[in-house]
Amino acid sequence: MRSIRDFFKDKHVSKGVRVLLRADYNVPMKDGEITGDFRILKSLPTIEFLRDMGARIVIVGHIGGDNGKTLAPVSTYLSKYTDIVFAPDIRSKETRHVADGLRDGEVLLLENLRNDPGEKSNDPEFVKLLASFGDIYVNDAFSVSHREHASIVGVPKILLPHTGLLMEEEMRLMQRALHPEHPFLFVLGGAKFETKLPLLKKFLHIADKIFVGGALAHDILRARGYNIGKSVVSGKDLDLTELAQSDKILLPTEVVVTRGDEVEVKKIEDVGDEDKIVDAAEGTLTEIKKVLDGCKFVLWNGPLGFYEGGFDEGTNALAKIISEAKADSLVGGGDTLTAIGKMGVEDGFEGISTAGGAMLDYLVDEKLVGIEALE
Ligand code: 3PG
Repeated sequence: MRSIRDFFKDKHVSKGVRVLLRADYNVPMKDGEITGDFRILKSLPTIEFLRDMGARIVIVGHIGGDNGKTLAPVSTYLSKYTDIVFAPDIRSKETRHVADGLRDGEVLLLENLRNDPGEKSNDPEFVKLLASFGDIYVNDAFSVSHREHASIVGVPKILLPHTGLLMEEEMRLMQRALHPEHPFLFVLGGAKFETKLPLLKKFLHIADKIFVGGALAHDILRARGYNIGKSVVSGKDLDLTELAQSDKILLPTEVVVTRGDEVEVKKIEDVGDEDKIVDAAEGTLTEIKKVLDGCKFVLWNGPLGFYEGGFDEGTNALAKIISEAKADSLVGGGDTLTAIGKMGVEDGFEGISTAGGAMLDYLVDEKLVGIEALE
């Protein structure tokens, strides 16, 4: 893979080069306001590097699915750090005009790629349009590199591909997680059991202990014979024998349950038929802390409870515990990052990945389509 550092070694040759930069600006928003700027801040070093090299930078990114959201607030946010022009219509003549008129070191952000159906379908005509904005391509969006989209796998077939600084940082973080120091604790939460099952099976051979939390834990609790009442389960017929029998797998010992409007803390063995487990309670966090105290490395992805439903205390408490632990820590995943931001404990982590799904995919397969496209 070629790094932008290699390309720009000779500043005289590369000055004025047009760079099409794929960033991930899929940031959380509420009432038109950005509520988490982590991905934006992490994109700055590459932009600053390219700007200092005198490149003419056209940035592309997405926000949300394909529901007409705009990157305009991201452009406003970025303008606190760099001069930037926003182009609200990728296909318009005006946008082409602005792009053609960029001077060395200037930055243009194009509107949400996913407003165009060609992005997700990797449409060759859309790929050509995107590629026409650059002389070289830079992928700085590790967190989207599991998607076979035009800006991820299409463009690097046409423009000479390069890795951005954030992409390189994220790949180093993933290598660390795959070759960790021991004792190593893996904490995996969230839902979507069937997609996370291969990861759990793989890490049974890498980690010394695995704490499974969130809805993910319910299936294994049930396989171990616990009553989980009305708690969310995957609903799939999964073979959990290996996980249920492994003494490496640790599960919640004390949980928050709801029953109608009632909310209660219960020992796991006391959960009743009508209870729904929605979060990890203090007893569980104390257990995790005990294990963590003996560890040198911890990898964490996914919330311990029904986070989007407001049951965030267990996850927030875990963010604090891990940030204070002696063990080196690496984290990723949307809700996980939100919890870290909420608790203001970013500095307590050795590595924070911007990736959610891409991180999980990479840890299972050790490759992503978007990274293969850079090779
Ligand atoms: C993310 O938020 O994980 C990335 O931006 C990818 O988004 P997606 O899951 O909507 O493809």
